[in-house]
Amino acid sequence: MAEHLTVGRVAELAGVTVRTLHHYDEIGLLQPSARTAAGHRAYSATDVERLREVLTYRRLGFGLREIAELIGDPAADAVARLCRLRALLLEQRERAAAMVTAIDRELEERAMGIRTTPEEQLKVFGARLYDTIGSAYPATRRTEPRIAARIWEALGDARTVLNVGAGTGSYEPADREVTAVEPSAVMRAQRPADAAPCVAAAAERLPFPDRSFDAAMAVSTVHHWPDPAAGLREMRRVARRVVVLTYDADDTGWRRRFWLTRDYLPEFADLLAGWPSLADLTRTIGGRAEPVLIPWDCVDGFFEAHWRRPEAYLQEPVRRAVSVWTRVGPRAEQRAVSTLHEDLACGRWAERNRDIMALDTAELGLRLLVA
Ligand SMILES: C[S@@+](CC[C@H](N)C(=O)[O-])C[C@H]1O[C@@H](n2cnc3c(N)ncnc32)[C@H](O)[C@@H]1O
Repeated sequence: MAEHLTVGRVAELAGVTVRTLHHYDEIGLLQPSARTAAGHRAYSATDVERLREVLTYRRLGFGLREIAELIGDPAADAVARLCRLRALLLEQRERAAAMVTAIDRELEERAMGIRTTPEEQLKVFGARLYDTIGSAYPATRRTEPRIAARIWEALGDARTVLNVGAGTGSYEPADREVTAVEPSAVMRAQRPADAAPCVAAAAERLPFPDRSFDAAMAVSTVHHWPDPAAGLREMRRVARRVVVLTYDADDTGWRRRFWLTRDYLPEFADLLAGWPSLADLTRTIGGRAEPVLIPWDCVDGFFEAHWRRPEAYLQEPVRRAVSVWTRVGPRAEQRAVSTLHEDLACGRWAERNRDIMALDTAELGLRLLVA
């Protein structure tokens, strides 16, 4: 028992209450491996390591259920888990540093009597990423007609449509009166000359009166919003109907089915942990979720689009047009790409994925929410 710490000592060292540790034990998140002769909880070095992981994820804002899933991953050893935590902490530090810089700049400007525009205030959030990677977007991102048909059908008889997080406007229906909203200047600048008018704003604060559109749509964008629930409530406020194309972040089934995340880029799970759950999104708009299958020859180059064309992921322009590759960081990207390259060359990929080559469509977590 000498190498074990008592619950009180662990609580004191970690700066949490004994009650918190009891709760973690009760929900199975952190069960101490021993008890003292008097029946009190006793924590081994391994238990303490696990607690450190739990507390770090807590500080990063993860919920207890998400943490249980993250640290319960039997495939990840201690070093892999520490690397994942480290990457998340670095990302958080980078974001915090960018926010401090932006606030310093705004303070200086205010001192000089200059007011920042809404666009400048948002730069540090979602738009910052797209102002960095957005110029690579049009190379492979375009309208996939079979997915567009589903979205347009869901819009029903709506005549006026608001497209939130519109990007370059890939899914805007040509036969309706569309108004686009897009916070990134880089993305707005790449909209075709004849595209619908576009307003510089973010989903969380739509500059329109209540019920001013028949429908509001959002395609592949909700997971980029700093506050998805607020954005969806805004869509609900300004439109009678809401149509959202997004991903099911709750279901791990499809993640295991997609060979790219399963065999090459497990770091994708870290990104998903920060995404809003499908259940929450659906509840917020009060609608239903329908699966959207991805055709094998999908022409919109989003992350999963090349599920039956693995060689595509070796191409830099294909990856640069998808935020996932930037978000996982260059180390994970390089490792995934070089391993995939080797597996394609030696036939290992083909051997492992023989069954998917016979499929015409794949269920990889894409969902259409309609309310
Ligand atoms: C993957 S792109 C999708 C663009 C377009 N909807 C499409 O399907 O091609 C995501 C877009 O969401 C935008 N975005 C990021 N944060 C946002 C926010 N808070 N509100 C609205 N849009 C946002 C980005 O600037 C980017 O243009």
